[in-house]
Amino acid sequence: MSIFRDDLFRDQVVLITGGGTGIGRGIAMALAAHGADTAILSRTAEHLDPTATEIRNSTGRRSLALVADVRQPEQVEAAVGRVVEELGRLDIVINAAAGNFLCPSADLSPNGFGTVLDIDAKGTWNVSRAAYHAWLRDHGGRILNISATLHYGGTPGQVHVAAAKAAVDALTRTLAVEWGPQGIRVNAIAPGPISDTEGARRLFPDTIADRLKRIIPVRRLGRIEDVVNLTLFLLSDAAANINGEIVVTDGGLCLSGNLNLFAEALRSKS
Ligand code: COA
Repeated sequence: MSIFRDDLFRDQVVLITGGGTGIGRGIAMALAAHGADTAILSRTAEHLDPTATEIRNSTGRRSLALVADVRQPEQVEAAVGRVVEELGRLDIVINAAAGNFLCPSADLSPNGFGTVLDIDAKGTWNVSRAAYHAWLRDHGGRILNISATLHYGGTPGQVHVAAAKAAVDALTRTLAVEWGPQGIRVNAIAPGPISDTEGARRLFPDTIADRLKRIIPVRRLGRIEDVVNLTLFLLSDAAANINGEIVVTDGGLCLSGNLNLFAEALRSKS
């Protein structure tokens, strides 16, 4: 049961990259349940089709599945063009597509580093840029980027992701200032460890998850619904004066200085 009004996003159109799985999927389902039509975008059709079908069946809202690689500007422009053509408008962009794996910096190849930068940082830029030119510049709207807290300190095994998410934060702040006057709010959410996600499976085994639960100040892992509720708030008019913010939802973990648990996850892998 949502605390938000059922029709909060009625007839708005939202593009969600990485919308087939994990956090992106949770956001897509919730926005549809609150009245939006969604377009979900991913490289992998198998990730998209079940989610788009579930959205249509459970909410009665339109949901478009778009196969595209956020690293490829031409594919992104074509996908954004389809959203406007088939769904009629584009009010909100959620940049949730991301790449991650644990790897000690000394072992990381140039292509491994570049691949994550390309997906997270260039992908966020490619999608935001295409949406701006196709719709947002003339009509206003909102962009929400999914960032992280890994770059607030030094997180072992995450040099590529830390660099990529720092770039996402920089994009968030810069575009908020440049595009704010055109009625476009740009914000980010920085989740801590969120259970039942691909990121969690890649970053910490169950033993680390159990330790995290004891260390996180609120004594639980994050849930997809935590990110979803914050998303609904930031996209709503209740957050009309919030622009260029990166809002952390991690139960206080990054304040407690315990991100070095990742060093243990790395050791447990080797
Ligand atoms: N450790 C070290 N290097 C790795 C790696 C790992 N676990 N996984 C991939 N790489 C390297 C590859 O070796 C390659 O570099 P190389 O050419 O020098 O060998 C480079 O990264 C690209 O790998 P590739 O598999 O070709 O890229 P891809 O585009 O198919 O996949 C990834 C992108 C690597 C980010 C992949 O993990 C992915 O698709 N992730 C999406 C889902 C995800 O990460 N979700 C969690 C988000 S929090």
